[in-house]
Amino acid sequence: MDGYWATYGSSHPEGYIHRIVDEFYNTNRILKEVKETNRYWGGYFVAIDGDKVLGAGGGGMIDKATGEVYVLYMDPDRKNEGIGTQILNAITAQQKSFGAMKQWVSVQKGNTMGIPFYEAKGFTFQYEKRGYGNEEGENFISLRYCRFI
Ligand SMILES: CC(C)(COP(=O)(O)OP(=O)(O)OC[C@H]1O[C@@H](n2cnc3c(N)ncnc32)[C@H](O)[C@@H]1OP(=O)(O)O)[C@@H](O)C(=O)NCCC(=O)NCCS
Repeated sequence: MDGYWATYGSSHPEGYIHRIVDEFYNTNRILKEVKETNRYWGGYFVAIDGDKVLGAGGGGMIDKATGEVYVLYMDPDRKNEGIGTQILNAITAQQKSFGAMKQWVSVQKGNTMGIPFYEAKGFTFQYEKRGYGNEEGENFISLRYCRFI
């Protein structure tokens, strides 16, 4: 949740961030997502240092041979240490075991941390689409990126 605020706090209004955090990062949803995993949602891969969570990510299959990264966030103080790469590698290995040959991710336009990271990992920009959860008057854009794995 801190990662989400650190990423979007300066580019998105508070109301938008509250809405997304309440929908996706509430305790009930996270508990369910930890307990119920399958090929469409592979669960969270979590990097820990003692009892401190440093970062987490997860994804799932969107068709027979295609995976998607749905979420990937680091503790803002522990970025650029290679940990995000390790989490992405774990998600990727899982999706390959499910038969994935391609992998997609959505990044919000203007996300200056996510875009260079995914480009460094071989993802290439494919197209823009309307961001998830836009309400009237909001026009956030998602960028769809993809790579072969
Ligand atoms: C994106 C994120 C998960 C990456 O995790 P991380 O642990 O910081 O990343 P790593 O240290 O493993 O790797 C950084 C890679 O990105 C590259 N990179 C980072 N910033 C870069 C920049 N400005 N220009 C070029 N490359 C850059 C590095 O070269 C490195 O690539 P390499 O492994 O090939 O050398 C993390 O920065 C984060 O949580 N960001 C905020 C949340 C976010 O944007 N999440 C994605 C939403 S979809």
